[in-house]
Amino acid sequence: MSEVAAPRWIASQFGSGSKLNFSFIFKEYLKVQQENCHSYNRRQPYYASEERRLWTANTFLRTHILGQTILRMKLLTFPHSLMFNSLVRTCVTKAYPVLNGELKPIHQHVFESNLRNSMIQNKRYLELKKQALKGGGEKAILRHTQRNEKLLVRERLRLLLDKEEILELSPFAGLGMPYGDIPAAGCLTGIGKVSGVWSVFIANDATVKGGTVYPVTVKKQLRAQDIAMQNRLPCIYLVDSGGAFLPLQAEIFPDKNHGGRAFYNEAIMSAAGIPQVAVVCGSCTAGGAYIPTMADETVMVDKIGTIFLAGPPLVKAATGEDTNPEELGGATLHAKVSGCIDHFAATEEEAYKCARNVIATLNLELPPKMQTDFEEPLYAAEELNGLAPRDYTHTLNIKLILSRLTDGSKFLEFKALYGTTLVTGFAQIKGHLVGIVANNGELTHNASLKGSHFVQLCDQRGIPIIFLQNTRPNPTVAGTLHKAEDITNQLKAQGSMIASVACAIVPKITIVIGGCYGGESFAMCGRSFDPNFLFLWPNARIGLISPNYYSEVLESYREIQDKARLKVLEEMLEIETSAFHSSSRIWDDGVILPEDTRMVIGRCLNIFKQKTQFHSHPERQVILRM
Ligand code: COA
Repeated sequence: MSEVAAPRWIASQFGSGSKLNFSFIFKEYLKVQQENCHSYNRRQPYYASEERRLWTANTFLRTHILGQTILRMKLLTFPHSLMFNSLVRTCVTKAYPVLNGELKPIHQHVFESNLRNSMIQNKRYLELKKQALKGGGEKAILRHTQRNEKLLVRERLRLLLDKEEILELSPFAGLGMPYGDIPAAGCLTGIGKVSGVWSVFIANDATVKGGTVYPVTVKKQLRAQDIAMQNRLPCIYLVDSGGAFLPLQAEIFPDKNHGGRAFYNEAIMSAAGIPQVAVVCGSCTAGGAYIPTMADETVMVDKIGTIFLAGPPLVKAATGEDTNPEELGGATLHAKVSGCIDHFAATEEEAYKCARNVIATLNLELPPKMQTDFEEPLYAAEELNGLAPRDYTHTLNIKLILSRLTDGSKFLEFKALYGTTLVTGFAQIKGHLVGIVANNGELTHNASLKGSHFVQLCDQRGIPIIFLQNTRPNPTVAGTLHKAEDITNQLKAQGSMIASVACAIVPKITIVIGGCYGGESFAMCGRSFDPNFLFLWPNARIGLISPNYYSEVLESYREIQDKARLKVLEEMLEIETSAFHSSSRIWDDGVILPEDTRMVIGRCLNIFKQKTQFHSHPERQVILRM
């Protein structure tokens, strides 16, 4: 079916000129397409022309008929049956070749140097973790627990979530911002199970400036909503916030991806069938008041929960009336009079129990039990600290890392002899089949073509892709004409890989194990390429180029000749390219220790499995509070 044929198909199925519901039509169309895809997969070679045409028709429908963003269509249409095809899973062989991950004497010098660097970075990781855990500090904690009689945010989460693993996101966000340290950006986000269902949580920490929203808080909340959308996970808001941090209103309010976007997202998510539940366990002032009123269902705690656009001091200033928070916007008022909430809870404990019960009504199929019968790698995960490159020149063969990540250290390599500076192949991680794309040097012409091919293979087979990124830190400088030709060919091949990565709709996880530099980072699914999750090792560096090459480039452009100024810039770049700087700005989803990588990837893969078809009907509408 071609672009021209698609409207014809619609007309033949539904009659031309009739009033059409495109969401319904698209689902019907996909059904046909999926059936066709299955048969094509059996009898056609890879990317056969018929399939290519189907893809074009699919794209045409996405972009022209529905007029929605690709992201939104990904949400609505991803064929679950293709993604975690049970056949693929059960046929995953335990007979994949075993990698030799032995460390040889020749590796010793580099290994030890990396290890020393990792020890410094890991120490910093632990310090920041401690700092983030303290929230707003002792005084604020006392005010929160003693005076305001509220539970701390982590206690709340303990009551809300099942007693199982969670995946906390961006715990170092907000540390070292120009406007001060905002521990965890004043808001914990992550993914945990609620009544057996993987759910995203967004929970204000009111010990941090009364839970007020800083620019980085907005970013963290939007990222968590993004994750809920991309992975189709229910979203639970624990709201306890004084609204916008007023002195920074210009960085919070006016722009597209500022505060209002969270409310926009709530509506879009609801319309896409992503359930949202709010628990009002503190103040919901001004903009914050829209979070609970726009959620599908809202629980509110008596006495400590308030929802209003302006609090008693503002009312007094505006009208001269003396009011109290309870009268102005307490749980009783909203449960009995305004209808802004749906469930009245006498205590916090009752509120989280109620939220758990709401999730239990979602009528979802629970994710399958986690596999436990997988093999562990043959080599110690702690050794990854000596393989984590302190810089690009300290990079050892990527297979040494792979052998410490994959089940049984097994790896079925694809195109082993071609474009060897990129390693591609299949493996299992914690029992999940994955495709791995890992840098092993420069992304050359051949390596890029191989990467492009492999990404398309994974996409066609519905296999999640893990990118292990360690890209080249220096820009290419064109020399002779012959070299220029090579470089432009390389550019063309990289462009092809970039396009394949951008268009692949399978789940993607990027782990920056070394450098995330310049153009090659795009092909390796950097942040702007929308991986479902992106984590950094503590040694990671993120920047256009490495600080070591900065002077070379600037001098070549005669940009800066003042050595003192150059030194200042280099020092600044040294700080700005660090993993912790990146994570504080939420350019990633968190820094993870190398030895935890397998566990984190396993958790993400588990979460993908729930990519549930929410109970939905074709004419879905946003849920409106009446
Ligand atoms: N902007 C900037 N700072 C704010 C703030 C806001 N919107 N809301 C609270 N803060 C600060 C307070 O100044 C205080 O700072 P400090 O610790 O340095 O003294 C800190 O947050 C905690 O506030 P406090 O009132 O002592 O705590 P609380 O737990 O008793 O009350 C609130 C918290 C949020 C209920 C209360 O501060 C409040 O009502 N704030 C105003 C909310 C508002 O009108 N927002 C409008 C946003 S558009």
